[in-house]
Amino acid sequence: MKRHFAVEPEQHSEDRVSLNLNVRGLAPSATVSINEESNRLIAAGRKVFKLGLGQSPFPVPECVVEALRANAHQKFYLEVQGLSELRAAVAEFHWRNDGVPADPSLVLVGPGSKELMFLMQVAYYGDLVVPTPCWVSYVPQAQILGHHVCLVPASFEEGWQFPADRLDELCREDPGRPRIVVLCYPGNPDGMTYDLQELQRLAAVARRYELILLSDEIYGKLHHRGEHVSVARFYPEGTIVSSGISKWCGAGGWRLGTFTFPPRLRWLLRAMTALASETFTSTSAPIQYAAMRAFQGGPELEEYLGQVRRILAALGGWCATRLRATGARIHDPVGAFYLFPDFGPLAAGLAAHGITTSSELCHRALAEIGVAILPGEEFQRPENELTVRLSYVDFDGEAVLQAARGTPSGAPLGDDFLHTHCARTVQAIEALCAWLGEMSA
Ligand SMILES: Cc1ncc(COP(=O)(O)O)c(C=O)c1O
Repeated sequence: MKRHFAVEPEQHSEDRVSLNLNVRGLAPSATVSINEESNRLIAAGRKVFKLGLGQSPFPVPECVVEALRANAHQKFYLEVQGLSELRAAVAEFHWRNDGVPADPSLVLVGPGSKELMFLMQVAYYGDLVVPTPCWVSYVPQAQILGHHVCLVPASFEEGWQFPADRLDELCREDPGRPRIVVLCYPGNPDGMTYDLQELQRLAAVARRYELILLSDEIYGKLHHRGEHVSVARFYPEGTIVSSGISKWCGAGGWRLGTFTFPPRLRWLLRAMTALASETFTSTSAPIQYAAMRAFQGGPELEEYLGQVRRILAALGGWCATRLRATGARIHDPVGAFYLFPDFGPLAAGLAAHGITTSSELCHRALAEIGVAILPGEEFQRPENELTVRLSYVDFDGEAVLQAARGTPSGAPLGDDFLHTHCARTVQAIEALCAWLGEMSA
């Protein structure tokens, strides 16, 4: 299983003796590292296209910023589980958006959904079942806690999603085993999602084996057609919906995430609340008040999301088409802001230039053309598979949002718009395509 070794064995040996065995050798997550490396190159005067980081480029909507301003004076610790009005807004959000009845007393607020995922694994001892490619932090979190992880590789042909029959096969081997299955859709790193029938099939398997589903829907509102459907619709009794304001509301740095539990899992919520009380106490008070405004929704937020989706759909589609022309295998994205191309068909040409792994590919792309992307290996794919994650949002989100507002609404944004307003991403993709073309000539 992959680990990130940042510390040279001979360095800091005295300090490392006392490190927990599960933590030894663990380095900051790959997304953070690539950003730091890119910043180092930029500081040294290099031009770098930052397609490595998974961060929304769009501003936090003005009404939400206004709510934060109005609540800057909130200074007291809040309830561990989260401000009750915010929990009500989150429950209402899930009902409005996902058609899933949710009870405010079953919502847990934390400083990012990532932290809640960690606490969940502290509280729950079962296996973590994760289809790959998967988001970078699920597996390291389990490793830190010494939990058993079961990785289930998905394929390009399956749209990188978890086929229900594979989950069934896995559970059949040991039906009573406690498991949490993580589903992430629209997906990081693949930008894909499940269709309705597959969600229903997954729900049926989960019900058969009484699995807990952790449904990571942090990109739900960034489904490019606004058609996200939660698996909780089909398996409400065993699904925890993970959400937050980091992606659709552009507020990653504000650090607020939410878990919404079904009544049957109240015991897990209670355990996690106890852990929260002993660790972070409560999430930042002004941020909780501002997040309430975000979850309440309304026309201003819908307009913002409509424009954001229009931009992501047009740019994601353009990038996929352009990359496909190199011979790469790539799907048109359905949500979020990622692409997960497979450059396997270019393997011979790349090997002739000394590139045989996804890490070498990314390292060379950064060094030779200044394009920062992440290797598939970081998403638990085999190291010699030439997949990479590419985040196509290296642009000034505020400016692009304004420009989109100035175009006729309803119509898709054309290539001219993308070349003018999303020039850095366009240039990065062109540079990558030209470089790959040279490699495979
Ligand atoms: C798939 C996925 N899940 C969860 C998170 C964590 O988000 P946060 O802790 O900001 O809520 C991220 C952030 O990158 C993500 O991409």
